[in-house]
Amino acid sequence: MSFGPIMRFKANDLVIELAPLNRESLVEFINPGMQQHSITRYIGMDSAPVIENEQDWYDKTRTAKDVLVWGIWLIEGDKRTLLGNSALTDIERGHIRQATSGSMIFRQEYWGKGIASAAHKARTLYAFEQLGLHRIKSAVIQVNGGSRKALERSGYNLVYVERNTVFVDGQLRHQDNLECLNPVEPFWSQWFHGDRPTKAQYEARQRTLEALEWARQHVTLL
Ligand SMILES: CC(C)(COP(=O)(O)OP(=O)(O)OC[C@H]1O[C@@H](n2cnc3c(N)ncnc32)[C@H](O)[C@@H]1OP(=O)(O)O)[C@@H](O)C(=O)NCCC(=O)NCCS
Repeated sequence: MSFGPIMRFKANDLVIELAPLNRESLVEFINPGMQQHSITRYIGMDSAPVIENEQDWYDKTRTAKDVLVWGIWLIEGDKRTLLGNSALTDIERGHIRQATSGSMIFRQEYWGKGIASAAHKARTLYAFEQLGLHRIKSAVIQVNGGSRKALERSGYNLVYVERNTVFVDGQLRHQDNLECLNPVEPFWSQWFHGDRPTKAQYEARQRTLEALEWARQHVTLL
């Protein structure tokens, strides 16, 4: 079972739920969703998926043990509209517990309304307080300024830049590799175990603490 449990919060005045997907909702991802280059150009896709691809992805996700996926749903009374998804993938539960995060809102009219920023905070709260992760990683193509901003807001910090990872819109693009470290003990000390964190890491820790506090106050984990 690899969908995350329901979390509800508001982004500006929109009621948003992070909740599992169902088969019927898959058509939303491609209608027109991920068949638009403007949606997928920064997530490493250069082809457009069709419904069978989404069904395959759904079947794999449903049984995967190292993945947690949430649909991002807009709730208006009884009406539920799927806006995108948010995920923790490659979840490692070894001596260090970590995962990679990713997110997409495929309805562009909902961009810039703070939905991803709030969803990241909810996901981070779940990752740190329920899964006990030490670290969440995320990669952002440098031109994707909105994505980096939303991640930094919830406590992510740049670790290193990888040059020329993709060729998009006529140019080679670099990739920012970010991380969000669990700011609370014992996770923080286990991660650093005597090494001195940098100033940027301390600043990111503070942002993460604030993001977690926001989520504790505003996110309802049903
Ligand atoms: C990236 C994405 C998830 C962001 O979602 P969102 O809900 O629009 O994000 P938010 O509204 O929480 O925050 C985005 C912020 O970046 C800003 N922003 C948007 N485009 C920007 C740009 N090109 N450069 C800098 N900042 C930008 C927004 O104005 C907003 O800041 P503000 O709240 O101060 O105005 C969404 O655009 C998306 O799904 N894109 C397609 C898929 C994708 O790129 N996924 C991420 C892969 S790493």
